[in-house]
Amino acid sequence: MAGEVQRGLEDVVALESRICFIDGRQGRLIYRGYDIRDLAERSTFEEVAYLLWYGRLPTATQLADLRQRLAELRTLPGELVRELDALPATANPMDALRTAVSAMAIFEPQETRPGPSSIGGAQRLTAALPSILGTFVRRRAHLPPIAARPELSHAAYLVYALLDREPTELEARAIDVALILHADHDLNASTFAARVTASTLSDLYSAVTSAVGTLKGPLHGGANERVMELLGEIGTVDRAEEFVKAKLARHERVMGFGHRVYKVEDPRATILRDWSRRLGEAKGDLHYYRLLEKVVEVVHREKGLYPNVDLYSGSIYTLLGIPQDLYTPIFASSRVVGWTAHVLEEYEDLRLIRPTSLYVGPTDLAYVPVAERS
Ligand code: SDX
Repeated sequence: MAGEVQRGLEDVVALESRICFIDGRQGRLIYRGYDIRDLAERSTFEEVAYLLWYGRLPTATQLADLRQRLAELRTLPGELVRELDALPATANPMDALRTAVSAMAIFEPQETRPGPSSIGGAQRLTAALPSILGTFVRRRAHLPPIAARPELSHAAYLVYALLDREPTELEARAIDVALILHADHDLNASTFAARVTASTLSDLYSAVTSAVGTLKGPLHGGANERVMELLGEIGTVDRAEEFVKAKLARHERVMGFGHRVYKVEDPRATILRDWSRRLGEAKGDLHYYRLLEKVVEVVHREKGLYPNVDLYSGSIYTLLGIPQDLYTPIFASSRVVGWTAHVLEEYEDLRLIRPTSLYVGPTDLAYVPVAERS
C-alpha cells in the first residue's frame, strides 16, 4: 500500500532511542535525561562523552580513566600521518577529515568490529579527530608537528592542535562548552546517515565516514562557515538591515537561521550567544557579536526565523584565531561522540533501515533494440 510521501522524512519517527530528546516547541535539548543548560554550565566534554556513550554520568574515577584513555589515543599511526602529508595543502579540511577516518579503518581494523566492542573505536575516533585536524592544518601553516600533550583537556588539546598554542582558561571553557553543545542532536542528517550505515552491520568507521560527508553540507554543519562569510560580506552593523532584507527578497537563505525541529530559538544558540559576548568583551572585540545581534533582529522581524546552533559558533572560533574552514571540522570533532553513541545503540537493537519511495515513473514500457531507436 503506497503511503503518503514525507519529503525529507519531516516528522517521520524512524526508531526509538534513549540518547537525545529535543522539544522543538519549548526549545529544550536533553542528553540521556540531562538538560543541555545544566551540562553546558556544570559539565565537561569528556563527562558528556561518557554520558552519551554509557547512558549515565561517570564517577570521578570513571571520568579520570576516560580522560586518560582519550589522551593515550591521540597519537596517530605513522601510515595515517603519511596519508595526511600526501594530501594537497589546499584540500578542504572536511575532505581531509573524511579521508582520514576512512583510512583509519585500514590501519586499525581491530577497532572497527561491529557490535559492543565498537566503544573502543568510538573513543579512538573521538581522541584522534583533533590530531587528524591538527596534523593536516599544521603542515599547511608550516607549524611544528603535533605532540600528544596528555596534560591538556580535550578542548584545550583541540585548540593546541589547531593553533600550536594553549588556550587561555576562558578560551578553553568556551571551546569545551561549544563541544558539549554540538555533541548530539537526535536524528539529524549526519547521525541518521551513520545509523543507516550501521544498520547494515557495516563497521563504525564506515558509519562515521558517512556522517562526516553528510555534516559537510551547508544546510547542516557547513552553515557555521557560511555565517562568517555572510558577516564578511555585510561588513558593518549599519549595512546589515539593507543587506539581509535584499538577501531575503531574493529568497536566499540566511545561514544560521531556521531549523527542522526547533520552532523557537535553538537553546544551543542562546548559550553560544552568551559565550560570543563574553569572549568578545574579554578580547575587546564585540564586532561580530554586535553584527550578529543586528542580523538576528532583521531576520526575525522579516521572516520570523530564530538562530540555530550554527549562528554564533564561528564568532567564538574567530576570536580565538581559528581559520574559518575549520569550523565544520570542529563541529565534527564534537558530533563524533553522538554519531558513535547512535551507532552503538543501533548495534544493540539492529533493524536494517530501508524506507521506500512512491514510484511515479512509467511502467510496462516495451524494450526497443538500440538499432531501432531514433
Ligand atoms: C544544523 O537537524 C539538526 O538537528 C541539525 C543540527 C544538528 O545539531 O545536527 O541542528 C545542526 O544543521 C542546524 C541548521 C544549520 N543550517 C542552516 O543554518 C542553513 C539555513 N537553514 C535552512 O536551510 C533551514 O532552516 C533548515 C535546512 C535548517 C531547515 O529547513 P526545513 O525544515 O526544511 O525548512 P524549509 O527549508 O522547508 O523552510 C521553511 C520556510 C521556507 O520559506 P517558504 O519557501 O515556505 O516561504 O522557511 C524558509 C524557507 O525558505 N527558511 C529560510 C531559512 N530557513 C528556512 N529562509 C531564509 N533563511 C533561512 N535560513
